[in-house]
Amino acid sequence: MATMIVVAGKGGVGKTAISSLLADSLSKKGVVLAIDADPSTNLNTALGLPLSCTVGKAREDLTEDITKGTISPTVAKQDVLDMKIREAMVESSKIDLLAMGRPEGPGCYCAANHMLRLSIDRLAKNYDYTVVDSEAGLEHISRRTTQDIDVLLTVSDPTIRGITAAARVKDLIKEMRTKVGKIYLVVNRVKNGLPPDIDKAITDLGLEMIAAVYEDPNLAELEVKGKPIIELPPNSPLRNGAEEIISKLGL
Ligand SMILES: Nc1ncnc2c1ncn2[C@@H]1O[C@H](COP(=O)(O)OP(=O)(O)O)[C@@H](O)[C@H]1O
Ligand SMILES: [Mg+2]
Repeated sequence: MATMIVVAGKGGVGKTAISSLLADSLSKKGVVLAIDADPSTNLNTALGLPLSCTVGKAREDLTEDITKGTISPTVAKQDVLDMKIREAMVESSKIDLLAMGRPEGPGCYCAANHMLRLSIDRLAKNYDYTVVDSEAGLEHISRRTTQDIDVLLTVSDPTIRGITAAARVKDLIKEMRTKVGKIYLVVNRVKNGLPPDIDKAITDLGLEMIAAVYEDPNLAELEVKGKPIIELPPNSPLRNGAEEIISKLGL
């Protein structure tokens, strides 16, 4: 069964770092599709993979083909899109990566967008796990209509403001059409244990924390050298955090 995990939260909280390590750990258990849904596309760097063409480009090509009428009426457009998406994918021995690229734009009631989601959902079914590194907004999540999200991880820094924002995300999700199985909070960059005020806010806001991830002293050096995050040594706090999440999810 394909399990879809979406990592959300505001900019700079550690979504990409956590997504890459989740993908890396899950790749030891099954085949993983990593989706970079952030237009700034940096999941590939975290995973040490080259950046290819984006899905946004594939969608634009298809829209153009439809407008110009260059697709033969005997060819199913969905099949053309499937093919274009496969071309945009970066394959590696452990993880396949798909970068969404440019956002869909304001005209969201668009046949191409709907077809795009259908193609991606069809693709995701071939994997044991899909990990989505979200953009800061909830666009991608709110527009999902076909495949449901099994686990939504909202990442926050250990601040009251961050935790409050995470609670707001949880409430928003409930109002959306998207079905989300479980919503958990990940508090990232914790230094000397979880401050009692934060702990209280989590309880008061009705959030369920799956892991407190500690500040990782090994990360800065990797980033200075431009090395992938997945090269973090065993037992480094971020890696431990990702493994704790996976184990608590029962994956
Ligand atoms: N647990 C951590 N310890 C130390 N640095 C971290 C940790 N988590 C994230 N960072 C750093 O914080 C910055 C933002 O992380 P990133 O994953 O890019 O955030 P996002 O994808 O949410 O914008 C990066 O420089 C990253 O290395
Ligand atoms: Mg990011």
